[in-house]
Amino acid sequence: MIDIAFVPAALPTSGALALLVPEGEGPGAGAGVLAQADAACGGTLTRAAAAAGFTGKKASICVVLAPMEGFTRIVLIGLGKAADHTLRGMEEAGGAAAKSLVRDTQAALAVDGMPPSHAAHAALGAQLWSYRFDRYRTKEKVEDKARLEILQVMADDPGAAGKAWPALAAVAQGVALSRDLASEPPNVLHPTELAERCRPLRELGVEVEVLGPDEMRTLGMHALLGVSMGSVQEPRVVVMRWNGGEPGTPPACFVGKGVTFDTGGISIKPAPGMEDMKWDMAGAAAVIGLMSTLAGRRARANVVGVVGLTENMPSGTAQRPGDVVRSLSGQTIEVQNTDAEGRLVLADVIWYAYDRFSPKFTVDLATLTGAVIVSLGHEYAGMFSNDDALAAQLTAAGQATGEAVWRMPLGEAYDKLIRSDIADMKNIGGRPGGAIIGAQFIQRFVRGPWAHLDIAGTAWSTKDTATAPKGATAYGVRLLDRLVADHVEATLQR
Ligand code: BES
Ligand code: MN
Ligand code: ZN
Repeated sequence: MIDIAFVPAALPTSGALALLVPEGEGPGAGAGVLAQADAACGGTLTRAAAAAGFTGKKASICVVLAPMEGFTRIVLIGLGKAADHTLRGMEEAGGAAAKSLVRDTQAALAVDGMPPSHAAHAALGAQLWSYRFDRYRTKEKVEDKARLEILQVMADDPGAAGKAWPALAAVAQGVALSRDLASEPPNVLHPTELAERCRPLRELGVEVEVLGPDEMRTLGMHALLGVSMGSVQEPRVVVMRWNGGEPGTPPACFVGKGVTFDTGGISIKPAPGMEDMKWDMAGAAAVIGLMSTLAGRRARANVVGVVGLTENMPSGTAQRPGDVVRSLSGQTIEVQNTDAEGRLVLADVIWYAYDRFSPKFTVDLATLTGAVIVSLGHEYAGMFSNDDALAAQLTAAGQATGEAVWRMPLGEAYDKLIRSDIADMKNIGGRPGGAIIGAQFIQRFVRGPWAHLDIAGTAWSTKDTATAPKGATAYGVRLLDRLVADHVEATLQR
């Protein structure tokens, strides 16, 4: 995490500086810090931009080294056309700034000429970009480490930008927590440890309750328990409650798949790439990061987060293909493939959450299927919903945050595919439409308005993006924080 400070807009006398350049306006334009810097170095920025063919196009940058006495570098960051000057656009620009200023411990970013909210979101982008997971590195050379420690964000109204900042700092915190959890290796982060990592949320005012296998057996969560049978690690269900809204109003409910390692079980996965299955708990990590964010910014909403945590291992005690389990709902499931375990976990957890909280809506997040990656690649999460209004709200939140969702169909014809010859349903239904079949299965355990987000393609990135280094993306934290802000809190404030 870098230290962010909002300061008045004035050209510094030294150091490293990032400047935002709207497309088509040269560095000499206007009267802001950009033009002042260009004048102070005798038009060097204008000449450098021309020499580099830099026109301020979105996501383009131009680094000018030692442009004048005292300055190590001035980085010009393309902001694109006016339509790109959104809050998300500012985050991307802030991320680009942090990326290009990484050789300096202290730097400044000018966002003058922009409203305070835009300045704050530029800071958020810088903060999100600056995340690193280096717990297990003992030999990194100093010069290879990111060194930006302090970022001064120069704004027209630093007071107002500073007021907007704590809520966004809570977002950055929640995202970092979520990324930390998904990045942890599976020998460290088994279900018990993941449940332990939820407890510190109590310091933010979240009520945290942990259920172990005995309670789960008493309740009758045999779909979830069946998945955990092969593991020496005990399963957990964690219930997190943030009561920031009107007392007594039904909560929004977020449910996460938390398979801390998915070998496939007896239906074992091939070896190549199996290490990726450490982040098969990314849905749970998103819910935990979301609860941290909502509590951290004191959201005026009642929200419950419930995560189902287990390992999926093969062993002499493991669940077999062909087993029939009785879910908490009473419905029986023929487990034809032990690798379709996420839906078994969610079946019990979603049923449990509805029984206990009668939420006004439920959104579940799960790295559920490889098939959703075939459908949508890594750009959109697959969204399935029984509620058009909720689906539209999620789509809008996705556009605002850059955590995009694409709605996919549900329907009777798909539901038929999971009929079983000996139980109420089976847990697989063939390869075609695999992501839909997964959603269809979950829908059998849903009561009330609901959306399912299949995040198998978006939870992890193999390359750097505008506001995230490669690795765990924390996909869902910002999306659902926005959903709560725009559609749960907004309805309360009247
Ligand atoms: N955790 C996997 C899905 C997954 C795949 C997540 C790739 C992230 C990246 C899930 O439990 C799984 O194994 N799904 C099976 C379902 C099939 C057996 C119906 C799959 O996608 O192959
Ligand atoms: Mn699996
Ligand atoms: Zn899985």
